[in-house]
Order: sequence, then structure tokens, then C-alpha cells
Amino acid sequence: MGKIMLEVKDLKTKYVTRFKENVYAVDGVSLEIEEGKSLGVAGESGCGKSTLALSLMGYYFAPLHYISGEIIIDGKNISGMKPDDVRKNILGTEVAYIPQAAMNALNPTQKVIRFIEDVIHAHDKSVSKKDIFDMARKRFEILGLPQEVLNRYSVELSGGMKQRTVIAISTILSPKVLIADEPSSALDVTSQKMVIKMMRDLMEKGYIKSMIFITHELPLLYNVTDHIMVMYAGQIVERGTAREMVFDPVHPYSKGLMGSIIVPEEGTRDVKLEAIPGTPPNLKKPPAGCRFAARCKYVIPTCSLGERSRRVFDDNRMHLCIHSVDFLRETYAKEGTGIAAIKSQKSENLKENKKTSEKTQENASNKSSENESEV
Ligand SMILES: Nc1ncnc2c1ncn2[C@@H]1O[C@H](COP(=O)(O)OP(=O)(O)OP(=O)(O)O)[C@@H](O)[C@H]1O
Ligand code: SF4
Ligand SMILES: [Mg+2]
Repeated sequence: MGKIMLEVKDLKTKYVTRFKENVYAVDGVSLEIEEGKSLGVAGESGCGKSTLALSLMGYYFAPLHYISGEIIIDGKNISGMKPDDVRKNILGTEVAYIPQAAMNALNPTQKVIRFIEDVIHAHDKSVSKKDIFDMARKRFEILGLPQEVLNRYSVELSGGMKQRTVIAISTILSPKVLIADEPSSALDVTSQKMVIKMMRDLMEKGYIKSMIFITHELPLLYNVTDHIMVMYAGQIVERGTAREMVFDPVHPYSKGLMGSIIVPEEGTRDVKLEAIPGTPPNLKKPPAGCRFAARCKYVIPTCSLGERSRRVFDDNRMHLCIHSVDFLRETYAKEGTGIAAIKSQKSENLKENKKTSEKTQENASNKSSENESEV
């Protein structure tokens, strides 16, 4: 096992609304990421993915509040640190966060280089503007971004270039953990691939040491991340390697979610997908016991009675369900529905996706080395 870059133990955070209601959006999350690895986070809208991303920085301000748990980055426990200390000593260097829709939040009246100065000066006011410019220029060059972008305003950049610029700004101090929340959503396919390529480059060139990648796009998670964890109603219900999670999801919710990885596209044969009925519960009053019970077709009366145990199986995979892995796997096999039945179809489909993805990446690289006519 490699060095652990991020360890989270039983983290609980909540929002307090202006009506003083509590929303328990992250409820007992534990995870680990090794150096050089990436972790994908999947789950329906409202399951707490973005709140988890925010919470992992250890930088809390209303309406988000820390309740309990530990966040340890490269051996340093940042839980309970004062916000000012987190801002000065943790953000940017230990952990960097790219929020959902970050590229739209860039101040349009500020040049790109000024954002970089802000990030660096938040840690060290003594660095000269010239040194910052030199550093930014080198980093942009290595990442295949045109240096002229440094003197542009964000409004002058295309969507894809804006997003890659945001990533370059956020990682300028080479953080140990990069948390990217839907970094490639709302981009066209080519820009999306360029963003992914850049994130891979950052890892391969050692500018980031580990990564958490949140996205609704499950095929992307499969192609980009080493591990995937599935969130439901503020909790992690299953985690495993990307391959295990796609081809052998065990938790009933993961199974439903991963079933949707086959998207109707040209060349896909008729595949029957099982939709998950219903919607996630209200996190102001999460149900007792299993939060998925109202939607689960394998529910038994005891599911709603109390806490379920986390079951660790198959070499450190985990799922949160009253049923054993063997029971669930046998049930799925007997049904002959869902993942078991469509496994080979999915395999073909993913191979196809991967080929298309590699081809687009190749095109993206070529485009990038033509020195970015895209700006
Ligand atoms: N500022 C806020 N105040 C109160 N509740 C909030 C706030 N932001 C999010 N929530 C609630 O917290 C829960 C988790 O939301 P979150 O945005 O983390 O979900 P998500 O998984 O990132 O969803 P999406 O996929 O749509 O981005 C939801 O019930 C949401 O309504
Ligand atoms: S604990 Fe019960 S309701 Fe929850 S996922 Fe497992 S079987 Fe379904
Ligand atoms: Mg979100």
C-alpha cells in the first residue's frame, strides 16, 4: 500500500438554514486515498457530493457547519483548525478545491495572472510579481496552455480554456489533494477530454499527489479514476476499484446507479435498464436505518430499524447494507437482470467508449500542441 495522502474518519457536517433547520448532508463519511491515486464520487443530485467536497477542505463558514470527525492530509490532522489557519496553511498547498461551475465564478474584470497572484500571496506576500509571472508561465507551458492567457480576462476565453485555466490557477501551489467537482460538465466533448488530459498530466508530472473527482458522468469515472465510491443521502453506501464498481456493484443503490452506465448510443444493442424509482430522502429528517429503504426492492422490515453495519469484503471493498454480499450477488444472479445480465454488453460498450475517449484525447493533444488556437 502506498502512502496515504488523505484519510477521513467518520466526518459529519450539516447546513443550518435561515429557518434554523439542520440539513445533514455529510453523515459519517470515511475514506482513504493513496499517493498517485484518484477517487471518483458518484451519486444522484442532492446526495451530498458537493457538500463532501466542501467539507473535506476543513474550511467551514455558514451555512455549512462541522459536527465531528477527522480529516488527515499527509499525516496532518486539519479537523478543528481555525478558519484563518486553514486559509493560510492548508488551502492551495495541502488541498485545492475546484467548485462546481467554478469557471463561471471568475471575476471578469481581473486578468488571469491576478488570480494566480492572489492564490500565491494568500500564503506568502513576499513573492514578487515577476517571480509569480515566471512561475505561472512555466506551469502553463508544461500543461500545454498558451502563455498569452495569463494576460487575458476570463471573459475572453472559451469555455474549455476557461476551465483549464481555473484548474491551473487552483493547482499552482502543487496541492497534495485536488478535489474537482464536476470539472468537465457543461463542456463540449473535445474540451472535456482536454480537461481530463490536463488533470492526468497534473498527477503524472507530480503537481498534485492525489485527486477526488466528482461527476455525474459514470463512463468518465470509469476511465479516469482508480476507485469509485457511491454516495446516497449523505453517506457512502459502497466503494471499490473502478472496475469492481462498474462490473460488480453490490449495494442495491450502486447496482441501480451503475446500471445507467450504458447510454443509448449508436452501435449499442437493445439493453433493458432498470431505473431506480422514487427520489432521495429529505436530509432535514433522514429516515432511521437504511436511507435507501423506501426505494429498495430488496428491503426487509429490519432495514428501517436501526443502523446497518458496514460490511468489508473482497479485499477491502465496503458496502452498507443489511444483506451479505453473497446474498445480494446470488439474488442478482437468480434474477438474471441488471448488471449480471448486461455485463458483456457493458464491457463492449465501455471498450468502445474508451477507444472513442483515447481517440478524442489524441486529437485534443494534437490540438493542444498546435498552441491553442482555441483561446
Ligand atoms: N446552502 C445550503 N443550505 C441548505 N441546504 C443545502 C445547501 N446546499 C446544499 N444543501 C442541501 O444539501 C444536500 C446535499 O447537496 P449537495 O449540493 O451536496 O448535493 P450534490 O450531490 O452535490 O448534488 P448535485 O449532483 O446536484 O451537484 C441537498 O439536500 C441540498 O438540498
Ligand atoms: S439495508 Fe435494506 S433497504 Fe437498505 S439497501 Fe440493503 S436491503 Fe435495501
Ligand atoms: Mg454538486
